[in-house]
Amino acid sequence: MSSIKNFRLYIDGEWVKSSSGETFPSDNPAKPKQILGFFQKGNKEDLEKAVSAAEKAFLEWSQTPAPKRGLILLITAQLLRENKEALAREMTTEMGKVLAESRGDVQEAIDITEYMAGEGRRLFGNTAPSELKKKFAMTIRMPIGVCGLITPWNFPMAIPAWKIMAALICGNTVVFKPSSDTPLCATRLVQTLEKAGLPKGVLNMVTGPGDAVGMTLVKHEKVKAVSFTGHKDTGAYILREAGLKRVSLEMGGKNGIIIMDDANLDLALDGVIWGGYGTTGQRCTAASRVIVHEKIKQKFETMLVYRIKKLRLGDGLKLHTDVGPLINKAAQEKSAKYAEFGKDEGAKLLIGGKTPKMDGFFFEPTLFTDCSVDMRIAQEEIFGPIVSIIPAKDFDEAIETINSIEYGLSSAIYTNDVSKAFEAITKIEAGLTYINSSTIGSEVHLPFGGIKHTGIGTREGGIEGVNEFSDIKTVYVDYSGKLQRAQIDQD
Ligand code: UN1
Repeated sequence: MSSIKNFRLYIDGEWVKSSSGETFPSDNPAKPKQILGFFQKGNKEDLEKAVSAAEKAFLEWSQTPAPKRGLILLITAQLLRENKEALAREMTTEMGKVLAESRGDVQEAIDITEYMAGEGRRLFGNTAPSELKKKFAMTIRMPIGVCGLITPWNFPMAIPAWKIMAALICGNTVVFKPSSDTPLCATRLVQTLEKAGLPKGVLNMVTGPGDAVGMTLVKHEKVKAVSFTGHKDTGAYILREAGLKRVSLEMGGKNGIIIMDDANLDLALDGVIWGGYGTTGQRCTAASRVIVHEKIKQKFETMLVYRIKKLRLGDGLKLHTDVGPLINKAAQEKSAKYAEFGKDEGAKLLIGGKTPKMDGFFFEPTLFTDCSVDMRIAQEEIFGPIVSIIPAKDFDEAIETINSIEYGLSSAIYTNDVSKAFEAITKIEAGLTYINSSTIGSEVHLPFGGIKHTGIGTREGGIEGVNEFSDIKTVYVDYSGKLQRAQIDQD
């Protein structure tokens, strides 16, 4: 159809076609026949051009005063704010999540852009006393160089913005490889930065397959840092292949909510519905395990099933939709497969478990109970609307259960016992712990990331985002006019 638009790569300030001559479509997961546009199937050659452009632009951009870099981010935030509604609607069309959540996603991109704009007037280092007279010591922040950013589709604007804005404010230049499921949202973000006046070559975007584009980027010797959010297996592969460069990884979770017998059950219920079925379970921080105290288990299950029954599946643009589609056919099939695993392994299906007869990639909100910790549905990241209840006889068992996974991203506990809450804070193995609130909803000025197989120590957001994309230089200024030997000369 001629009315469907062809989008392009963004290299050295120009919107260009791929040398592959090929394109791929982006569709609407609620109505897969609706094609939103065709995108360039970038290849190695395109990637080389993007890296060269970023390398060339680094000289100027890294020397641009950080407050001036911040000004471009501030204008970007303003433009995103002006277009928030249109961007959110388009996001729901491309990614499927309900409109209110898409608005949240765009808002998160605005928030991090504003935060990082402000960092342009800080980027603080430290000063420290020297152990010698007439000598001064300090640390300053240096940009790293060309950064390769590889992002997922589930927060198609927020996650690219976390990485791009942090990288740019620190004076780095960027080659951005967005997910092939959401290239339109990525294109809109890049267009906004261009409109805000970002100099050419500072940000380059190459859409296309992970092996040809992503892996070339990861292995490229001129790329000095790689930041990736996505599947654990891809992350582990990136770590092996990246060579001597800085790598940061955020690789998902199997996040649990503990509900103690003294908890406010209505509050906990809201938390499970929002954490388990919000974004159709497609968040790294989604609550896919609910660890319930035996005493209140049956009551809580009845309450939860009642609420799940009321969830309406549908197009995220429709006012009454609670749960949108999954991102694509493979994701839909994965949820169906895990529902089967659950049944086969002996978990009790309370509701859902089926692929509904609808056009889009929908899956019924699903709840299993009487799960044991070793079941696949209680161990593996599904990224779909499937929640597993695991009973616990007391607090200690609940803690043991919540920690019994390879991941460590988010976690939550509902209790009114302040001692138990604090004990949970220190005992739960995760990068994030929420008290009396669900596992999702981190804020951009606070660190985000996880431990165990979720990450390798890096955090995004706030000052940690600045740390991710800057190097620390230690500077000594000796104004004594003589040779002073540290550790040797004592006065
Ligand atoms: C993710 O799912 O990868 O805390 C990110 C949250 C969001 C970010 C989730 N602010 O759920």
